[in-house]
Amino acid sequence: MFSKKTIEDIDCQNKTILVRVDYNVPIKEGIVKDDYRIKQSIPTLKYLLDRQAKLILISHLGRPDGKKAEEFSLEPIAKILSKEIGAKVYFADDCIGRSVQKQLAKMKSGEILLCENLRFHPEEEKNDQAFAAEMAKPADLFVQDGFGVVHRAHASTDAITHCLPSVAGLLLKKEVDTITDVMANPNRPLMSIIGGAKIADKLELIKKFISISDIVAIGGAMANTFLLASGGEVGDSLVDNDEVPIAKDIIELAQQEATKRRFVFCLPHDAIVAKEVDSTTETRIVDWSSHVIADVLSYPKRVSTSATKIAKHEKILDIGPFSASFIAGCVQLTNTVVWNGTMGVTEVKSLQGPIGPFAHGTEIIIEALLGQLGHRPFSLVGGGDTVGYIENRNLVNQFDHVSTGGGASLELMAGKKLPGVEALLNKD
Ligand code: 3PG
Repeated sequence: MFSKKTIEDIDCQNKTILVRVDYNVPIKEGIVKDDYRIKQSIPTLKYLLDRQAKLILISHLGRPDGKKAEEFSLEPIAKILSKEIGAKVYFADDCIGRSVQKQLAKMKSGEILLCENLRFHPEEEKNDQAFAAEMAKPADLFVQDGFGVVHRAHASTDAITHCLPSVAGLLLKKEVDTITDVMANPNRPLMSIIGGAKIADKLELIKKFISISDIVAIGGAMANTFLLASGGEVGDSLVDNDEVPIAKDIIELAQQEATKRRFVFCLPHDAIVAKEVDSTTETRIVDWSSHVIADVLSYPKRVSTSATKIAKHEKILDIGPFSASFIAGCVQLTNTVVWNGTMGVTEVKSLQGPIGPFAHGTEIIIEALLGQLGHRPFSLVGGGDTVGYIENRNLVNQFDHVSTGGGASLELMAGKKLPGVEALLNKD
């Protein structure tokens, strides 16, 4: 149960409210490429506007290193937000001082002011108290709804809470409640599917999942490092040699877990490989441990070693069909699946249809999660690349919970405290 006060626990009527959102979304040449985080912020904003509040929205975008830079401007979001919410959205070219005051003076209740990128001020990431006090000046209340950033102790997540009564928005509450509930009290069997490049980024999470899940499946580039750690050949694949000892430790941890209880740790045993990471490249399947595909394709000749080996100049770019089917089969046995990280290089576009050449493994997992193979478990999806992919495929509404947080959801799942949540007022 969420232990912090939310906007539903306080009087928001006619107040000027500073709302921290996470509008750190991909923007290219002024065009917003993914509006999921913006859409997810709407219920809180609507709730407050319905109570005739004036809203001052603050957010960061990217990592501009404390300097103003046009490519990191939040201005393109104002128009989209106004359309989504059906209210007037003003824009201030700073998050403190005169430009905020000037715009606020024009505003009526039920309108919104979106402020320029917080990280144009180095004080934001330094959790500077004086900077937070400046932001707080025009407001009566602070609402934290930027779930994606509450794992950071910054001025807009921590210091600000010393200046204003501070409560959670509806998105923050929903994210924290859903994720903590799945971790603490999952409807079993619980399966975790983890992808992504670096093991180190998700080490805590993998360990946690090994301790609580019934099945853990690994894909994405981190699976290459696991393959190397188990003595396999990886050709020219993306691997992190420094992480090989960590991968060995994890394999051992998983083996130990399997001696204590019924537990499956699943690493890929085949892959899609190619020489280049682009849409025109030729692809092939290498099944290094089962040899089934190679046997069938070569029959009646003997299997050439190249069919079961990744060549020097080839890269693993997706899990293979056997591995994907195995994971999809495991999904049929579960009631809850947590999925974080795509299985391959899903950002490479296809020349023929919506599914890229290295996205088939991920697509098979999606089919399984959405019940297209018969059984549909509760699905909790997180991670920037994963959410971006299902957004592009227009599938986001079909999952049970798609988190807006990357690092924040990983830390919450790993059982860490989130400074931006801790700092809010406790429920009485
Ligand atoms: C995110 O996209 O994960 C959040 O917006 C946090 O961004 P940051 O990693 O730059 O702090």
